Amino acid sequence: MVLIPLHPSKAKPASASAGPAGTGADKPLVNLLRGWPAPAILPVAQLKMATADVLTDASVVVDSLQYGPDSGFQPLREQLASYLSNIFSKYSVPNDPERICITGGASQNAACILQSFTDPAYTACIWVSAPCYFLMCPIFEDSGFAGRLRAVPEDDEGTDVEALERGFQEFESSPPSEPTYKNNLAPDRKAYRHVVYVVPTSSNPSGSSMTVKRREQLVRLARKYDALLIADDVYDFLQWDVPRADAVLTSKQGSVSLPPPLPRLVDVDRTLPQEDGHETEEDSRRFGNAISNGSFSKIVAPGLRTGWVEATPAFSYGLAQTGSSKSGGAPSQFSAATIAVLMRTGELDRYLQEVARPALQWRHRLLIQAVEEHLSEFLEIKCGGLPKATSSEVTTYGGYFLWLKLRRSDMSAAAISKRAFAKENLIIADGPLFEVKGDEASARFDDHIRLCFAWEDEAKIQEGVERLARVLRNWDEPEDAATALPASDTGAFK
Ligand SMILES: Cc1ncc(COP(=O)(O)O)c(C=O)c1O
Repeated sequence: MVLIPLHPSKAKPASASAGPAGTGADKPLVNLLRGWPAPAILPVAQLKMATADVLTDASVVVDSLQYGPDSGFQPLREQLASYLSNIFSKYSVPNDPERICITGGASQNAACILQSFTDPAYTACIWVSAPCYFLMCPIFEDSGFAGRLRAVPEDDEGTDVEALERGFQEFESSPPSEPTYKNNLAPDRKAYRHVVYVVPTSSNPSGSSMTVKRREQLVRLARKYDALLIADDVYDFLQWDVPRADAVLTSKQGSVSLPPPLPRLVDVDRTLPQEDGHETEEDSRRFGNAISNGSFSKIVAPGLRTGWVEATPAFSYGLAQTGSSKSGGAPSQFSAATIAVLMRTGELDRYLQEVARPALQWRHRLLIQAVEEHLSEFLEIKCGGLPKATSSEVTTYGGYFLWLKLRRSDMSAAAISKRAFAKENLIIADGPLFEVKGDEASARFDDHIRLCFAWEDEAKIQEGVERLARVLRNWDEPEDAATALPASDTGAFK
């Protein structure tokens, strides 16, 4: 193992010379909000090889450039089925391409799921685990649920299932009419009564992973109330063991394996026995109550806009019957063909093992060290700190983000993000961004901020933390005109 010094250099970068009264305009921008992969780690060479392979392979090139089948490029469905059954072998995942549908990525696919498996006349609400991945809210709103997103708070184990059940029960006394907007769904699709949106593993923004017990509770609840659990499993392959606090790492490791994965909700739903005395209706058993919404955006490149769903064969087939896929086949056919090459040749796994996970593990470590050194007086790391030197437990972390809680009650995350931008040319994500749209009051986060360690390079991550520390240290100074920006000026970055 390569070793990292516990405390990064204390030397102040030249760009930090402007004093607390200065404005940020003279400094290079540091963006710790943006949740994109760093340009330096994009797999350009691998994609060059894979696209050349597709374009020169006479048996693939035409299929890859034409409209495709509704469920997507068949070789990628096969590669994924085999890959997922291997990674999640502990949970006996079947190697069955019929369980896979190729999608245009997790976001676009969320819209397709709602088109095929909800009816705003019948489906009560979209329940969103909070804090939430904020860019899903407009997708739910556009699907007919504006004003019907409901926040479900999280505790240390994950989504609060008691709060969720109380929410479900509100609707039990007034049974809905039959689906009325969409009487074309049966027999291949159905409207669920509820939808629950979660990021069970390495969540965005909180970085936390739901316990197995909580996953099981969630599946039981979903079965009981005819709910569909949409699990964005987009960070499952971007997890790593966190070296202990006394491990001194000096550079990123050459190879980082995926720690043993937790069961996805789709695995729990497939394997958890039905409860005695509770007969789930036939459609629910056929379609299931949980799906895995996967994406290549974070494990290959966002520009490919390609993902997959794993679900029961009936759900996966139903999803492929969504109008936009029926019209010429699943999206992203050429990207799918390219990714199939990356998987077949082992390049995807090599990239994750030798590039993506080492880079994220290293940046996560640098960010934590910088936070501990400069920000611990003001902010507490909610999840993803370094295990103590004495700890024998292996801690796993993953994803792109660190979620921090303000220690001082007189500080507001929204005001901090404004001031950080005005004074330090630093962009951070304030907690209110992750409140559920239309139900903000049920789970407030103005005492949290999110920092991304995936986008900026290592030096800028540390520089960003130092700039934020300066903002917080100078918090009690009177505000000047530069920091009194209207909200719209920072809104552009969200
Ligand atoms: C939880 C979560 N879901 C979905 C996405 C977007 O996925 P895609 O690019 O496949 O639409 C992101 C990207 O940040 C995310 O964090």
